[in-house]
Amino acid sequence: MKKNNPNLKGTTLLIFLASMQANISQATEAPTGFDGLTNGFILQGDYDHDKELFEERRTAANGLGPVFNAQSCVECHANPTAGGSSQVAALRAGIFNGKKFIEPPGGSVIHDRATDASLQSTVSDKWNVRTVRLSSNTLGGGYVEAIADDTLREIAKRQSKQSNGEIHGQVVMVDVVEVPGTKRVGRFGWKSQHASLLSFNAEAFRSEMGITNALFPTENTANGRSVVEFDTMADPENNGWGVALLTEFVRATKAPPRDSNLAATEDAISGEKIFEEIGCGLCHTATITTAPTDTVINAGTFKVPPALGDKTIHPFSDFLLHDVGTGDGIVQNGGQSTRNKLRTAPLWGLRTRSRLLHDGSALTLLQAIKRHQGESASVTKQFKALIATEKSQLLKFLESL
Ligand code: HEC
Ligand code: HEC
Repeated sequence: MKKNNPNLKGTTLLIFLASMQANISQATEAPTGFDGLTNGFILQGDYDHDKELFEERRTAANGLGPVFNAQSCVECHANPTAGGSSQVAALRAGIFNGKKFIEPPGGSVIHDRATDASLQSTVSDKWNVRTVRLSSNTLGGGYVEAIADDTLREIAKRQSKQSNGEIHGQVVMVDVVEVPGTKRVGRFGWKSQHASLLSFNAEAFRSEMGITNALFPTENTANGRSVVEFDTMADPENNGWGVALLTEFVRATKAPPRDSNLAATEDAISGEKIFEEIGCGLCHTATITTAPTDTVINAGTFKVPPALGDKTIHPFSDFLLHDVGTGDGIVQNGGQSTRNKLRTAPLWGLRTRSRLLHDGSALTLLQAIKRHQGESASVTKQFKALIATEKSQLLKFLESL
């Protein structure tokens, strides 16, 4: 605990305490549910309409391809409801020259599909960095976007202090694409490669589906080769509304809910305590409060609305990058120092995931936990030292997420 500032006069202290009280009581729990209902950011009718766009199966006639990964957002973000995660994995590759990661021609996303067989992208034998990335969850994304940069910085400081520097989440500053020249703390994607949902979704529209738009107006290439002669539509293929409405949809999703029956069991309750005691919670942060309503974020382009501001969420992530020994060698927007780091996987909705870690290389919770080394080595050691009952309580807790 910080000592009170001795210079603080009695009345000032009281006012200060009262305002802290006010801040605390203002925050309310964010709504959770896999129920396809709006979190209140927009009306249900608009939510249903935006969700249709998220689910719309595109063809070349409305911009798909020529090279792409899937035909709709929901093809990859589906489980157990539109916006969730899935087993669909995207392929990435590149070159490590002993010093740094270099993108191959056309970028590190290797498109799995094409509208014409001659455009099929493949991985070259010369590209020594190769990985797949599972589709992550977008539900509750509006709350994640509404977390203040300073809140994430504070978590980084706190965890480093509490672990004597062993755990030191990296804050990455990434472009807010909608306002050139501005940056914000990254939080979305396995590499925290974006800070704004509009930026992320605009890139996903182009990179995953080949639908160019105002923020990402340049068509994908086939391993660097131009595909324009196969493209039937002029760029940008989407007039901007598409990305805006997809973003409205993600912002309006509720956060993933716990399994309330399992969560109420004594085992899960004890398991959560153990999770905190041995240090899992240093990275998998249980509780975060979003910025106050009316805070202006994303370089001045978005004002946090009442539905997303002052909300308490339980993402079980710090949204920071760590080296836990599983790094895939790919650099995205965070720079070379992030090459072998990954964002702490948010554990909300964990029970809907059949494959674990960014590349699906762990299939059970135990396997995923034991893979944690690097910054997490001491925590993993403590996990291994737990007695059998404690381990099974911890696993019960994880199964309730
Ligand atoms: C081919 C599968 C695929 C399609 C299609 C796809 N995504 Fe994704 N999505 C992914 C993968 C894989 C990730 C994780 C990316 C990474 O970090 O490597 C992801 C991550 C995201 C995230 C970040 C969530 C987080 O982890 O913080 C958002 C938001 C998102 N996608 C939105 C969309 C939208 C909107 C669309 C439709 C325009 C879309 N995606 C289409 C595969 C897909
Ligand atoms: C130093 C930070 C850190 C600590 C400490 C830590 N984790 Fe993680 N955890 C991560 C990162 C980073 C990932 C993503 C790794 C990847 O995908 O390769 C992850 C992934 C996971 C996953 C996989 C989730 C998914 O959806 O794929 C589980 C489960 C998990 N951690 C549980 C735990 C448990 C239980 C503990 C304590 C025994 C723990 N973690 C401690 C950072 C941490």
